[in-house]
Amino acid sequence: MHDCHIPTLKNQRQIPPPHCFPLPNPCPIAVSKNDLMAQALHIVNGIVVNDDRQWRADVLVVDGKVHSVGLDLVVPAGVRVIDAAGKYVIPGGIDPHTHLQLPFMGTVSRDDFDHGTRAAVAGGTTCVIDFVIPSSRSESLVDAYDRWRSWADPKVNCDYALHVAVTSWSERISSEMGILCGERGVSSFKMFMAYKDSMMVTDAELYRCFARCRELGAIGMVHAENGDLVAAGQEHVLRCGVHGPEGHELSRPEEIEAEATERAITIAHQVRAPAYIVHVMSKGAADALVRARRAGRQCFGEALAAGLAVDGSHACNADWRAAAAYVMSPPLRSDPTTKEHLMRLLAVGDLATVATDNCTFNADQKALGKDDFTKIPNGVNGIEDRMAIVWTKGVETGMLAPTDFVRVTSTAAAKIFGLYPRKGRIEQGSDADIVVWDPAAKRTISAKTHHHNIDYNICAWPNEYLTFKLLMCGGRS
Ligand code: URP
Ligand code: ZN
Ligand code: ZN
Repeated sequence: MHDCHIPTLKNQRQIPPPHCFPLPNPCPIAVSKNDLMAQALHIVNGIVVNDDRQWRADVLVVDGKVHSVGLDLVVPAGVRVIDAAGKYVIPGGIDPHTHLQLPFMGTVSRDDFDHGTRAAVAGGTTCVIDFVIPSSRSESLVDAYDRWRSWADPKVNCDYALHVAVTSWSERISSEMGILCGERGVSSFKMFMAYKDSMMVTDAELYRCFARCRELGAIGMVHAENGDLVAAGQEHVLRCGVHGPEGHELSRPEEIEAEATERAITIAHQVRAPAYIVHVMSKGAADALVRARRAGRQCFGEALAAGLAVDGSHACNADWRAAAAYVMSPPLRSDPTTKEHLMRLLAVGDLATVATDNCTFNADQKALGKDDFTKIPNGVNGIEDRMAIVWTKGVETGMLAPTDFVRVTSTAAAKIFGLYPRKGRIEQGSDADIVVWDPAAKRTISAKTHHHNIDYNICAWPNEYLTFKLLMCGGRS
């Protein structure tokens, strides 16, 4: 077995591993619950890929777990066989950043825990980590967490876990963080440096949050943008007469993201806590993170599928709806070389994970900001296409090896968020979250065929084909 290693948590009090809430019936292919062999699957002739190795091996799955991996496995008669010849057998994807049915900016994101996880599974992601965000600074974090569970548990179509957002600081919040870690299995907290007057925390509050995370052995995550400068930038851009979606990036340029990234890592370092920077969207922010890593700071960066697939040029589309579809924060950048820059940093490990920040709003919801870009609900899709985008833009271009693909889409998130090696790896005893990935199968991303609850898809660009097919989640296919 591999150690569940979160390198940053050395010498700290260890908390129990976080909960990952499984499906109620993880193995619906079962003919009879008492007959283990009826629940078994034998995946033969494929190339098994973990983050550290790829090799020709068969995989035997029994009762939702990987029973054995290798050649010449002892397999009882009657077990269902899947022929994976010519295909890769990889750990199911883990998307560590989603916002399903999130109440946000006066509305609620369209992909709920049903649609969102259905889309995830359709794209090869078998575990998502969503964010509990308290409805106000006075709401109890524990109540908010329990509310999220009540929304998600009846609806999810794959395993999931929860991060919790901390949007203010007090003794009560500090003690609730302890309850969440000790009793609810939470191991990660997110703080916003943006969204002034709603979720934004001050530097002093951020410092206290990181200190408490360190005490608890949890990891602090940060939305890194300078919220005061964003507010000033928005006012200025509106005053200049720019009201459309093109004003979004103008009001929050790269340096505002880069400055906050450096500041977040600096604050975390004061208490020797690691910092996980969510949605690194610009070269400036990515380079700030790389500089900090070279200086020995413990920090992880997260790229988004959208940031690897598209750029900010769409904000100038004359069709308001098409432009508004791409509005998210930090913005997709107008520098078209950003995508490749981020992929190269994933290849060398300076960026750790690829998430989606899936937070979808249909055109009518986006129209809340028809006359004022600051009111366009922020968020894009990606949960369904993340794996295909990384394969097409990373592996097919030669920037990533299949092992790197597994690392950035699954293993790294499992390690950072305490799910490894139960998830993020195919080996004896791990969850049978397995994708049989066919590099020859092509499909075109399209809003007509996707599983999202919106009628557009920002990743659906013409004439580009993406790959994959066939998966199992908790041993079911
Ligand atoms: O635009 C975004 N990213 N929407 C979701 C909320 C957040 O900031 O993560
Ligand atoms: Zn964010
Ligand atoms: Zn987010």
